[in-house]
Amino acid sequence: MTDFTIEEITIPATLDTPDAADFIATAEVRNAVEAAGYGTDDLAFSAAELLPDWLDQEYQPKRLLAARVDGRIVAHAVYETQPDEDAGTAWLDVKVLPEFRRRGIGAALADRLEAIADFEGRGKRIVYAVSRDGSGARLPSPTGFGSVPRANDEVRFLLGRGYALEQVERGSRLALPPDPDDLARCQDSAASAAGPDYVEHFWIDHTPERWRRDMALLYTRMSTEAPTAGLEEPEDVWTVERLALHERRRESSPRIQFVAAVEHRATGRLAGFTELSAPAELTRPVSQEDTIVLEEHRGHRLGMLLKVANLRHLERVRPGHPAIITFNAEENRHMLDVNEAVGFRPIGYEGAWLRVV
Ligand SMILES: CC(C)(COP(=O)(O)OP(=O)(O)OC[C@H]1O[C@@H](n2cnc3c(N)ncnc32)[C@H](O)[C@@H]1OP(=O)(O)O)[C@@H](O)C(=O)NCCC(=O)NCCS
Repeated sequence: MTDFTIEEITIPATLDTPDAADFIATAEVRNAVEAAGYGTDDLAFSAAELLPDWLDQEYQPKRLLAARVDGRIVAHAVYETQPDEDAGTAWLDVKVLPEFRRRGIGAALADRLEAIADFEGRGKRIVYAVSRDGSGARLPSPTGFGSVPRANDEVRFLLGRGYALEQVERGSRLALPPDPDDLARCQDSAASAAGPDYVEHFWIDHTPERWRRDMALLYTRMSTEAPTAGLEEPEDVWTVERLALHERRRESSPRIQFVAAVEHRATGRLAGFTELSAPAELTRPVSQEDTIVLEEHRGHRLGMLLKVANLRHLERVRPGHPAIITFNAEENRHMLDVNEAVGFRPIGYEGAWLRVV
């Protein structure tokens, strides 16, 4: 048994102070564990890119713990919840560097996170964990779509702690630039299905004033309309004020946000949007963030229209990134159909786990 200590890490206001070193070390643990799970560095986020989200304690309260061996941070743990005292859900995440596993560090960190959830009375605990492909028996998702290898570290760990697998998420990658024939085909079929009732809009980083109210609604609906299977993720309410604060905080991030949205001409309201987040370095992949078409506007191929429009937007303004990475629920056939038609291919899978106390 290795000697280790656990401590809470202070979130630094900026990264150029000496007390930011521990926060930076936890980001490195995160990236090493993601790389081990996906077999690629494509999922890495720098501390500077992660920091704005950590500074949002008003709408997404979070705490960061770390485990240290011989002075070095070798594991981290994240506790996240909602600001409402009555909110019943906590999202937990423990990551231990592969070379420091099976020494009780993961269990000790998970115990600490669970104790915080107990103390705050959040009975529903959700964990997303990457599951690298492996041989042997599989644990199927109760959705009927996807499975994880039973012998994996994280699967044994979570089953041992009383978690149940609820859903499998697929990570996919689109090599850039996209195939022009695929893109033209997708664009033509989507544009003819959508017809003249919808008009596209584009912006970078800051939501134009005229669309702030609609974007707050779309972000809120994103939390309830994306399929979350047995997890039944709670609603995450966005307001115009929250959106403004979020965008102000994001100014300190080196990433650039590309948004494509569609307006329904008859009502003058947004029917959907999609967002890509590009790192400052052209050598790194872009992340696909939210995509949503409001329920009342589905069935017009707006999902495809938006994806193709934003791909073109990105390639027009910032050509040269190697790829786009996206995550979708394995049972989300509508979204997967769109992504597969554009050229996305699977790179790995995550389990979504639930324990209700
Ligand atoms: C899951 C993870 C956090 C476990 O960390 P760890 O420090 O190795 O966990 P511990 O040493 O505390 O193990 C606790 C128990 O989990 C189970 N377990 C963990 N890894 C296991 C493995 N490879 N085989 C069998 N059982 C395992 C065992 O029951 C173990 O107790 P034991 O060692 O007394 O048998 C680590 O593998 C990891 O970081 N994985 C990637 C990130 C991830 O998936 N996180 C999700 C969990 S929130």
